Amino acid sequence: MTRWLFAHFAVIFVLVFLHVGYHRPIQLAIISAHGNPLSHPAELSKCGKGGQNVYVREVGTHLSKMGFNVTVFTRSESEGDTGTVILSPTFRVTYVVAGPQQHLFRDLFYQYLEEFTSQIDPGEFDVVFSNYWLSGYVGLKLGLPQIHVHHSLGVQKFEWEPLTEIGKIRLAVEREINLKATCIVHQLKNEQELTNATRAIYIKPGIEVDKFEHLNKEKSKKKLKFDENVTNVLYVGRFAPQKGIKFAVEALHKSAVPHTFRLIGAYENTSSEYLLREFPQFEYLGPKPRSELAEYMSASDILLVPSLYEPFGLVVLEGMAAGCSMIVSAVGGPDELVEDGVNGLKVPPGDADAIREAFEKLAGNRTLMSEMGRRNRRTALGNSWKKTVENLGDLIVRITQQKNTVIHRLLDHVIPNLN
Ligand SMILES: *[C@@H]1O[C@H](CO)[C@@H](O)[C@H](O)[C@H]1NC(C)=O
Ligand SMILES: *[C@@H]1O[C@H](CO)[C@@H](O)[C@H](O)[C@H]1NC(C)=O
Ligand SMILES: *[C@@H]1O[C@H](CO)[C@@H](O)[C@H](O)[C@H]1NC(C)=O
Ligand SMILES: *[C@@H]1O[C@H](CO)[C@@H](O)[C@H](O)[C@H]1NC(C)=O
Ligand SMILES: *[C@@H]1O[C@H](CO)[C@@H](O)[C@H](O)[C@H]1NC(C)=O
Repeated sequence: MTRWLFAHFAVIFVLVFLHVGYHRPIQLAIISAHGNPLSHPAELSKCGKGGQNVYVREVGTHLSKMGFNVTVFTRSESEGDTGTVILSPTFRVTYVVAGPQQHLFRDLFYQYLEEFTSQIDPGEFDVVFSNYWLSGYVGLKLGLPQIHVHHSLGVQKFEWEPLTEIGKIRLAVEREINLKATCIVHQLKNEQELTNATRAIYIKPGIEVDKFEHLNKEKSKKKLKFDENVTNVLYVGRFAPQKGIKFAVEALHKSAVPHTFRLIGAYENTSSEYLLREFPQFEYLGPKPRSELAEYMSASDILLVPSLYEPFGLVVLEGMAAGCSMIVSAVGGPDELVEDGVNGLKVPPGDADAIREAFEKLAGNRTLMSEMGRRNRRTALGNSWKKTVENLGDLIVRITQQKNTVIHRLLDHVIPNLN
């Protein structure tokens, strides 16, 4: 009898303990209206896809592993993409049907944002993490504590491009987000000048260490049949005017120092397609899956980032992780990530002569070039997504615990601990 009682109480004790000890995980909605984290790797670097898709996938994956319950909401861009894709018990991607189920240039999606928002139940979530201004708008509408990452900013873009009607809306939405979001996550230290955000924190993105750490320059060169007797230069990115490709092409065209120049990214039907005809000596490789991209970077000596403006430039970190020395425009992310003469050379944006001089300086001193490459690799491989997302997780926990009340202090309080 006593034994039975004991067993009985033990069972109850265990049940109660389990109940009391049970903590509902923090319910997180990640909004990435136009950046689907499930995009096939080959799709990336095409149609304006790229950095954000990877960011959302890595952040979602690592936050769910840390114990957050994560749902990503993204727009359905084809009839096949509907419903919810379960990636793990605490990580899922939900397709939202809003507007036509086809790829839309992202600005055109603005008109469907209300429809998108109406399909998310804010009651199910504790906090929303929005990416890019379109999703930021959705975040504002949901009325939850909101963390926001800009990925790119209208104030920067429209310094270079004519301000459109949708551009005016974008600027207004971004101002609103900067004012009202619980916390803006800046990916660069100098972003605060561009946002004047009320509450912000600096957390730089990581790189996919596992895609880079096994690479070896000599092996990659052999595998891809690169000529090791010339300087191999690589461009990776969209063929958009603001990427400044024409200055890079002009620079290398004028240089007599032996080299190859390979360009990876979708060039078809872009305004830069003429480059193929006018500079047929260069290799236009089209889009590549991210796994192959890493190998191409590893086989190359110099990664050239000639952008006229560049909000972040994940490609800089990746090129570093692959052991490239860098030639970058002194703008935005590249300017902050590259130290002139230490891990690469910086040039003024839109200056072909400066690019040619920088190229010839590096190509003329292979010791310097490979020293920079090795240094870059060490630095960048220490910059994992896991570390980045631990910082984001910290932020989310604080925000949900503090329920907005003392978030104003985050800026002073948290920034010194993170870099
Ligand atoms: C995680 O979120 C989903 C979708 O909101 C929900 O159905 C599920 O019950 C949640 N799981 C936990 C453990 O909170
Ligand atoms: C941010 O604030 C500074 C100082 O008030 C101002 O000069 C600058 O134009 C503002 N930047 C933006 C993007 O609003
Ligand atoms: C590089 O130069 C070496 C020595 O001149 C030569 O043996 C080798 O074939 C060259 N490699 C290529 C790919 O041309
Ligand atoms: C480029 O445009 C042509 C003609 O409109 C089309 O057939 C082709 O599929 C497009 N290529 C890409 C990569 O979008
Ligand atoms: C090449 O770079 C190395 C390492 O930075 C430096 O010590 C050397 O003086 C440079 N050589 C020339 C010819 O500039």
